[in-house]
Amino acid sequence: MLTPNLTVSPEGHLLINGADTVALAKQHGTPLYVMDEDMIRESCRGYNDVLRDEYAGKGLICYASKAFSCKEIYRIVDSEGLGADCISDGEMYTALSAGMPAEKIVLHGNSKTDTELRMAVEKGIGRIVCDNLSELARLNAIAGEMGRQPKVLLRVKPGIDAHTHEFVQTGKIDSKFGFALETGEALAAVEAASAYENLNLAGLHCHIGSQILETEPFAAAARVMLGFMAEIREKLGLTLPELNLGGGPGIRYTEEDDPKPFGEIVRAILGAVKATCAECSFPEPYVLFEPGRSIVGGAGLTLYTVMAKKTIPNIRTYVLVDGGMCDNPRYALYQSRYEALIANRADQPRSETVTVGGKCCESGDLIGEHMPLQPAEDGDILAVLATGAYNYSMAMNYNRNPRAEVVMVKNGEARTVVRRESYEDLVRNDL
Ligand code: LLP
Repeated sequence: MLTPNLTVSPEGHLLINGADTVALAKQHGTPLYVMDEDMIRESCRGYNDVLRDEYAGKGLICYASKAFSCKEIYRIVDSEGLGADCISDGEMYTALSAGMPAEKIVLHGNSKTDTELRMAVEKGIGRIVCDNLSELARLNAIAGEMGRQPKVLLRVKPGIDAHTHEFVQTGKIDSKFGFALETGEALAAVEAASAYENLNLAGLHCHIGSQILETEPFAAAARVMLGFMAEIREKLGLTLPELNLGGGPGIRYTEEDDPKPFGEIVRAILGAVKATCAECSFPEPYVLFEPGRSIVGGAGLTLYTVMAKKTIPNIRTYVLVDGGMCDNPRYALYQSRYEALIANRADQPRSETVTVGGKCCESGDLIGEHMPLQPAEDGDILAVLATGAYNYSMAMNYNRNPRAEVVMVKNGEARTVVRRESYEDLVRNDL
């Protein structure tokens, strides 16, 4: 199995953290997202352990909630000592309503609205990661009006392309996020931000990408960022005390994937931070990380009911399910690969190769192609694995499909954490 929390019962049913997925599908209906709370907590602890062991705990892990956002996840990560990375007023609102302390929240966004900036300043959001000069000017004005001085980090493009097979330092400046180093734009932004009287410039931020399987691009980014912090000290006489190194560690989506464990990645990053600080005689900064996928991705799966099977001779076999791109748009968007199995016959070999199709009126509404699967029959429960990140959070209502329910399993016991949308929910805002 893809992750150790997935097992098969004597009757051949797929279990997640001890809970029978076939029984869950029957009780809660499908499509259904099922998340393993114990695995999520274990990952949170794993991150905190490395930070404590390698860096005396001088930092904060902020769960990147774009990966999966609902009130319960903020409560869970908060109780494990994590903060949250939010990217919108909606995520901030959800986090705050769940009781996440404002000072543990980092606000992101390359196009923040005044509403978002006002909310952040008014609620006392711990760190605002500023992306561009217009935002700095607007935030300074808003903070001045409110008589506050929010803590600001600046988003920098470290020029590392982590997605090529052998990562390269491209000096890539064509990204909508942040200030480029090479052009001098980042240094100018630091100078501008430090001159604003209502902003408390505390440090820098970078994020080199997502689903990154190797350690080296992360370590390289840390070296670049610290080198830049040393340059800022030299040129502007400013010693910035904080460095946020973003998220990005990858997870196993298929049997072939072999990502470096996040613990190894964080250890390599912290090693690079310490070594570069020693080289530049720069004080070790307070560090922040923003992992999303590696905390929730492998902890979730999605259950569907097989509605029909269609074999097109010499072409392909479709297994058609009662969900699809509305609950998981990742194949349609990125041709992302997943493992799937028939949850009620999980002990049998996956002897067929199929295309799993969704219910939307859209040919591209697929969960995957060339997927090995047990011979499917109408009424079977199909489980798609490793859907905990960027599935529920990217769900949509195309064709007025109500968004699916989310259950969380702790110690073998499941409870609903997000209700299934009702027909009334669908028309709530229609006039
Ligand atoms: N911090 C920042 C500033 C980010 O932009 C992201 C992700 C993260 C942290 C969390 O990255 P993670 O640890 O989850 O890799 N929808 C895409 C993924 C988009 C990621 C965007 N930013 C997908 O489904 O693969």
